[in-house]
Amino acid sequence: MFWSNFKNLHLIAGHRGNRHYFPENTLIAFKNAKKCDFIELDIQLTKDNEIVIIHDETPKRTSNFNTDKKISQLTLKELKEHNFGEWFLEKDPYKTKKFLTSKDIKEIKKQTIPTLEEALKVIKKPINIEIKSKEMDLEKLLFLIKGKENKILISSFHHNHLKNIKKLNPGIYTAPLDEIKRENILEYIKEFNTKNYNISKDIADKKYLKYLVKNNINVSVYTVNKKEKIKRYFKKGVKAVFRDYC
Ligand code: G3P
Repeated sequence: MFWSNFKNLHLIAGHRGNRHYFPENTLIAFKNAKKCDFIELDIQLTKDNEIVIIHDETPKRTSNFNTDKKISQLTLKELKEHNFGEWFLEKDPYKTKKFLTSKDIKEIKKQTIPTLEEALKVIKKPINIEIKSKEMDLEKLLFLIKGKENKILISSFHHNHLKNIKKLNPGIYTAPLDEIKRENILEYIKEFNTKNYNISKDIADKKYLKYLVKNNINVSVYTVNKKEKIKRYFKKGVKAVFRDYC
């Protein structure tokens, strides 16, 4: 079981890797998320059916690829021609000077968009893979994670992906992602044949959490950075909190 990977009761998930200190969703961020219990990353499908790791619909914000084309309209080759680390150094020169070694900076300057296959070779920790795009090659995804299923939790706002994954392999751990409250939430979660539920802090109020936890749902909450707030969620029975650094 995914949660059996951990001795701790309270878990920190490195949101998009260790994105406060390193460029999000890159291999260097994943390598440096050593103190996180598990890593959260986002996947999307390219035009040529490759699974890449990136949060936004376009590469504009997190690379030097100044295009409005969506990931689904770009090939892996086109994406790989660009740098996915330098934007981070330019965005926050203070952080660059304060926290990063010259070796880190050198490596950040070499970051390209990672494929899921590349990331799975580097990441040794359990992973929460969020399927970001509406289109996904689920068979390919399951092929890539073969043998590592126990260390992987797949989540998505596109809930149909999660149902389809269970049809392909009922043993995969999944978690619907939500930023809205739902009526009959227990019945809703049951449809996914899972006990895991990843929700925004915007809907994670005391009453809702109490109800979910009392009914043995493994609730994870995103994104919470302040220590005191994280502690409060753990007190309310939250299993994991997504944090931008660890
Ligand atoms: O997967 C949890 C959280 O990362 C969802 O929010 O915007 O970072 O994809 P976002």
